[in-house]
Amino acid sequence: MPLAGRVKELKSSSTLAITALANKLLSEGVDVVSFGAGEPDFDTPDYIKQAAIQAIESGFTKYTPSTGTSELKEAIRKKFKTDNNLEYRPEQIIVSSGAKHCLFNIILAMIEEGDEVIIPVPYWVSYPEMVRVAGGECRFVATEAGNNLKLSARALKQSLSPRTKLLILNSPANPTGSVYSRNELEEIAEICRDNKIYVISDEIYEKLIYDGASHISIASLNNEIHDLTFTVNGVSKSHAMTGWRIGYCAVPSLEIADAIKNLQDHSTSNPCSISQKAAFEALRASGEWTIKMRDEFSGRRDYLLSLMNEIPSLSYVKPLGAFYLFCDISQTGLASRDFSMRLLNEEKVAVIPGDGFGRDDYIRLSFTMRPETIKKGIDRLKKWVRQLPKRS
Ligand SMILES: Cc1ncc(COP(=O)(O)O)c(C=O)c1O
Repeated sequence: MPLAGRVKELKSSSTLAITALANKLLSEGVDVVSFGAGEPDFDTPDYIKQAAIQAIESGFTKYTPSTGTSELKEAIRKKFKTDNNLEYRPEQIIVSSGAKHCLFNIILAMIEEGDEVIIPVPYWVSYPEMVRVAGGECRFVATEAGNNLKLSARALKQSLSPRTKLLILNSPANPTGSVYSRNELEEIAEICRDNKIYVISDEIYEKLIYDGASHISIASLNNEIHDLTFTVNGVSKSHAMTGWRIGYCAVPSLEIADAIKNLQDHSTSNPCSISQKAAFEALRASGEWTIKMRDEFSGRRDYLLSLMNEIPSLSYVKPLGAFYLFCDISQTGLASRDFSMRLLNEEKVAVIPGDGFGRDDYIRLSFTMRPETIKKGIDRLKKWVRQLPKRS
């Protein structure tokens, strides 16, 4: 095949593979319960849709500045100040076609052959592939269940090399739902500052956080870490807008902002003009709608955990944020793909195998569906796990 090396090695997304199979079964009329979703089941709120309709009707349908309208950038600047205690100039803010696009731009702009990127395991499936496309090397760092699968300062220190350029942090995290505390972030920030390591802080699940936990942006801790950090966020998860494709980031310097602007100028140009109007409305309005969705997810999480507690052979990391449960299947003796495929074929329950997140002894379940669906799916899972042969 005449394919370029940079794409030959790309792995297909394990998340998408199982979801595709579950969808195929559903389209054939099979009663599948899917815990695979990576997005809220809520519809985008009406006030946001109305802003988009208004944009279309008023002809706001042309190119905009490549990195976003000044109106939207100003709303993002204010959001960073109010919610995260982060100061940025408008030129440091870049709006892209989803947070994923922001991450890809940053990695392409910063990483080249020979650079190492630290990725704590488990990780969101796309991080390693983005680093590889850019020619960088992933330095995977193990975490412990006892520390809720979060990167420790000690492990970070041990993984540094003279080639380390970037650390990718994600809090609240996909797939674990873990949230880093201020203290943990301070320790990590100190190491990054001392070793001049840049940080991507992926904060896309910021608004979905439970039990009164708080979200801390690592860039807000002090000026030194502020000047090393890329803060990435977006409206996909916070406003049920995954299909609208609006993400944004704040970058540490004007020089880097300029480089990313050039990259975006010559690849995608501006994110959709209509979606930018919708995102502006999402950020302008009060956060009340998001709080309602968060409270609903919090209840569903509690319900899911109460049902999972009845399956003693499956343990889990209690999620404090996002909408995922990362569940340890090691006691079943099955690898994650085998577990997930058999569960789907035999009980018609779809879960995401953990191997795509770097942990073959885990599976990921979303809790974005209604409680009765959660109950139906977990009842099937419980029955299926019980009949698995006991490991000696
Ligand atoms: C950790 C994480 N970062 C980024 C994204 C991408 O968000 P977006 O839909 O805005 O591109 C996702 C989506 O699943 C995610 O889980």
